[in-house]
Formats: sequence, C-alpha cells, structure tokens
Amino acid sequence: MKTYDFDKIIDRTGSGDLKHEVLEQRYGRIDLLPLWVADMDWETPDFITDALRDRLNHSLYGYTIEPTDLWPSVIDWIRNRHGWEVQREWLTFIPGIVRGIGLVVNRFVKSDEKVIIQPPVYHPFRLTPAGNHREVVCNPLRREADGTYRMDFEQLAAMVDEKCRLLILSNPHNPAGITWDRSTLEQLAEFCDSHGILVVSDEIHADMALFGNTHIPFASVSEAAARCSITFGAPSKTFNMAGIISSWAVVPNPKLRAEFYRWLTVNELNEPHIFAPIATIAAYRKGEVWREQMLRYVEGNVNFVMDYCRQYLPQIRPLRPQASFLVWLDCNALRLTQTALVNLFVNEARLALNDGAMFGQGGEGFMRLNVGTQRSRLQEALERLKAAVEACRCS
Ligand SMILES: Cc1ncc(COP(=O)(O)O)c(C=O)c1O
Repeated sequence: MKTYDFDKIIDRTGSGDLKHEVLEQRYGRIDLLPLWVADMDWETPDFITDALRDRLNHSLYGYTIEPTDLWPSVIDWIRNRHGWEVQREWLTFIPGIVRGIGLVVNRFVKSDEKVIIQPPVYHPFRLTPAGNHREVVCNPLRREADGTYRMDFEQLAAMVDEKCRLLILSNPHNPAGITWDRSTLEQLAEFCDSHGILVVSDEIHADMALFGNTHIPFASVSEAAARCSITFGAPSKTFNMAGIISSWAVVPNPKLRAEFYRWLTVNELNEPHIFAPIATIAAYRKGEVWREQMLRYVEGNVNFVMDYCRQYLPQIRPLRPQASFLVWLDCNALRLTQTALVNLFVNEARLALNDGAMFGQGGEGFMRLNVGTQRSRLQEALERLKAAVEACRCS
C-alpha cells in the first residue's frame, strides 16, 4: 500500500492560490502564515493528477459527454462511505455548492419569502440569500457548557412563520465540525417537512468524519427528510481539488426534482466542464487509501492543537471537530474585543485565520483555524500565537 507524505511542504507560489494571493487585500499585509480558506496545503493526490494529465495528452478539448462511470462512481462512493442508496435519476451535476445554494434560492424562494440559517455557520449561507434580496432569519445554535453545540428546536418553532421557505443545513457543520446525530436530523426533517420548508443539506465535508464519528446524510434519515430536501456534495474538500468544480446534487423527491432539474437542464447549469467527471471518478474509484491516511494526519493535527493549547495557550480552547479540517477556537478567555482579537492574530502573531465573527451570531470571541496543513507549519503558527499572547498579557 502506498504511503503518502503529508509533511512535505508544497510551494504554492505562481499557482494563483487564493489563500496567499489575497492576504494584502483581506488582512492588510502579506507576511502572514495563511490558515484560513478551506483548502489544504498538501498536493491534490497523484491518482487525480494522473487522470487529468491523461486527458490533457489528447490535446483537443471540444464538447464532451459525461463518462459512463461518473454516476456509478458517485453512487458507489455514497453507498460505501455512508450506507445511503442513491438512485441514478436523483443525481445531477451542479456548478459548485455555493452556486447551488444560489440556484435553489432563486428557483424556490419567492422575493418576499425567508431563508433560515443556524449560526454560527459558513458565511455564504447568509451572504448568498441576502445578496439575492431574500430575508435571512436566524435560529442560532445553542452552546452547551462543555463547548459543544445543539440545534434549538423550541426557538425554531417560535421564530418560524409561513414566509419561511428554505433552511440551509451545514452537515457536517462548518465551522464547529459537528456530525449531527440521527435524532437531531430526524427532528429537523419532521419539523421542516410539516412546515413546508425545503432543506438544502450542504454535505461537502461528509467524507471527513474524524475520531470514529459518523456522517449521516440528512435525506437518508426518514421519508420526511427525503421528501423535503436537496443534498449537495462534492469530492472537492476531501481530495483538495476545490479549483475543479465538481459538485453534485441529490433530490429523492420526484416533484421537487422535476422542477429543479428541468430548470437546471434548460439553462445548461448541470453540465460539467470536461475535467470535473475525470477528477471525480479518479477520486471516488481510487481515493480511499489516500483519504484514510489524510484523515489520520488531520486527526494528528487536531490532537496537536488541542495538546498545545492545553499546555501553552490555556486561554484558547479549541473545540475538537467531529469532521472536517477546521478547528473552532474559543478565544473568549483572552477577554479581547473582536477587533483586538483579530489584531492579535494578524498583526502580533502574523497569522491569517478566519475571523469567527464572519460566521454570524455566536461567532464573536472565536477564530477558525484550518489544520489541513503540514504539522511543521501548524507548530510554527502555534508558537507565533503563544509569543503574541504572552507579549500582550491578555486575560
Ligand atoms: C460548508 C461549505 N460549503 C460549501 C463550501 C464551498 O463549496 P463550493 O466551492 O463548491 O462552492 C465550503 C468551502 O469552504 C464549505 O465549507
């Protein structure tokens, strides 16, 4: 079995990567160690690059049809990874998950209707509907004493009215890395189905459950869930190929599917570009060994952060993610305003993380750390942070 090297530093210079190229614009300086946007710092695995290279060797990139193994590879992957039996006709390509959310908002939410989100949550859940002039209403997650989160169904019932048309679910949850349990998903499905609320379940981090946790596909938990939902998934996070737009949708409900897919089809919004199916098939047919090793490395990184903070940075309490390569850092014990907290990370520690406030209500006092990186870089980041915290004598 091949062993992959996740310690190897990859120089991204010249690749136009977002993580480095916009530091000046977003953080006001370029001398930062970037641990923000959710792609990983190791190479996209060789079996994907080889498959793409094979196709590039035929140097004519005209119109193409979908390779016959595209949907069987997706169906097999979902069955083998998540035990969910998806029918071929339930599936279609979508041009990215945030774009997919935009498409659903435009297609299914009338201009006077509302979209529910559960912050703190991935910021495009708010920005995309709001940018499309739909009202976004919040059912903030409840934070428990041990730092974990749960959905608040009483609050949801109290805030919902007949104008609420869509709920966007982050499953597993970004930024807190939660794999929602079956009873939570069942309860959510029951509630939304009975209130005529469509659920978009964004499952982009599905294949990255950690520490023995399990991802449960929302639509698989009950008939109500299958009836009221559109699921989005992709190999893009797991196999570090976000630049190769390769997402897909699953809609089990025939009525919903007919409406959505007909509209996508006439507008050719569900036609993959030439490279997406090639990369997807390679990922799903050849990626399990790499995925397993990558997840063990991510777990090692999470443990490293937890141990380091416990020992040297007790004012920073990382929430152990159940899935994903994102760690939600509770920095409240530093007792800084959000501006001072961001200043500490950026201008003192010279680190570019995501400001917790961007994830909405409940995000203040937090920063999101991307641990999809080499251990040596993570260590450097934590050492910089320790020095900065000591220098500022916070808390
Ligand atoms: C929860 C979640 N959804 C969607 C995306 C982005 O997906 P896409 O690039 O397909 O729009 C991300 C990227 O960080 C994410 O974390």
